Amino acid sequence: MTTSALFIVLALLMAGQGFAWVIQPSYDESAVPDDELPGPLVMADGTPVSTTEQWPARRAELVEQFTEQMFGRLELSTPGEAVVSEWLESDGRALDGRATRRQVRVCFTEDPDGPAMELLVYLPNGTDGPVPVFFGMNFDGNHTVHADPAIRITQAWVRNRAEVGAVDHRASEEGRGVMASRWPVEALIARGYGLATAYYGDLDPDFDDGFRNGLHALLDGAGDTQRPGDAGGAIAAWAWGYRLAMDYFESDPAVDAQRVIAIGHSRLGKTALWAGATDERFAMVVSNNSGCGGAALSRRRFGETIYAINTRFPHWFCASFHTYNDNESALPFDQHALLALMAPRPVYIASAADDRWADPRGEYLAGVHASPVYALLGDPGLVGAGDHLPAVGTPLQDGRIGYHVRTGGHDLTRYDWDRYMDFADRHLGGSDE
Ligand code: GCU
Repeated sequence: MTTSALFIVLALLMAGQGFAWVIQPSYDESAVPDDELPGPLVMADGTPVSTTEQWPARRAELVEQFTEQMFGRLELSTPGEAVVSEWLESDGRALDGRATRRQVRVCFTEDPDGPAMELLVYLPNGTDGPVPVFFGMNFDGNHTVHADPAIRITQAWVRNRAEVGAVDHRASEEGRGVMASRWPVEALIARGYGLATAYYGDLDPDFDDGFRNGLHALLDGAGDTQRPGDAGGAIAAWAWGYRLAMDYFESDPAVDAQRVIAIGHSRLGKTALWAGATDERFAMVVSNNSGCGGAALSRRRFGETIYAINTRFPHWFCASFHTYNDNESALPFDQHALLALMAPRPVYIASAADDRWADPRGEYLAGVHASPVYALLGDPGLVGAGDHLPAVGTPLQDGRIGYHVRTGGHDLTRYDWDRYMDFADRHLGGSDE
């Protein structure tokens, strides 16, 4: 092997381990290519889409393109239609009597003893009827989202993280409530919203195992070394979990299934967008710092690029997406079209000023360029927007695309949640309807 070949092999190996130095991101706005974005309102054959009647066909075309080229297909060989769920517990006196807590086992197939995800649900007490619910997956297990001692500790594989008490890929009591700053349950309950969450590793452990474990183990061709280019990756599996949660909400009379909001942070922000795009039962979608592969425009090549994400996380997207490494202009879409797939439902994009890796301006501009689809369907998208990023801490919430950039770094904070509740109050009628 020549020295340069050896170097490339080493670099790739290290990239696989997440060594960021191999990837040199650009944070230079003047270096952003001025590639034209593919119009969300033009059919693949060039026909302009100018009436609401034409939109469903264009929408279907885009969903197919995103499936085939980016997230991949994920169909369970066993139909998951008949959702089997079991309340592991339900307690009407949770959080000092302010909430009802349920923990629910939701099975992936009709087999009640087969693989399942555990849903943790808090619903406000004393309401007149079913309540709107925010649903978002968590990174470290349900027990990390709140100090409530009754929350079950996940038995699933977890990433080793001393901060959350995860050792030997097992979660522990030490992690209880450790991620609570990202999940202000009491604040949500006080404003009439329910909060539901599940551990994303229940669907697919987040490491590259050749698609053998998690949901992939249940699929036709599991473990094949030659997978089709459009076989679904981890994000497709997590998004399937969002849909499974929605199936459960439709069966719970205390939940208003017409007002379920999909939310996700970072890689799970990408997931929430894909779940919302493919499952129109979600009434609203929130992308928190979702960045590359989420709300940020890929063609800008600012911060994380397609090459960077596919190199460090080869299991997130389908194999075909890797053909766009350093080749963004060949993509038949860009991420503004993913946002447009929510239309006319409200969608909220949030950035953080110091989170340059996720390209705040690219996330914002995707909202700007998704807006014509909202306008076509009769509702304004991003209102009050110009070419420039809005000032830090000045949310845009008048239209059905919301946006803010807050101070600080990559995180899901109380400030973000307060804005999401404001936006839901405004566009979904909050808890009063
Ligand atoms: C990495 C990755 C991002 C992702 C983030 C996260 O930074 O490069 O694409 O959003 O992890 O999920 O926290």
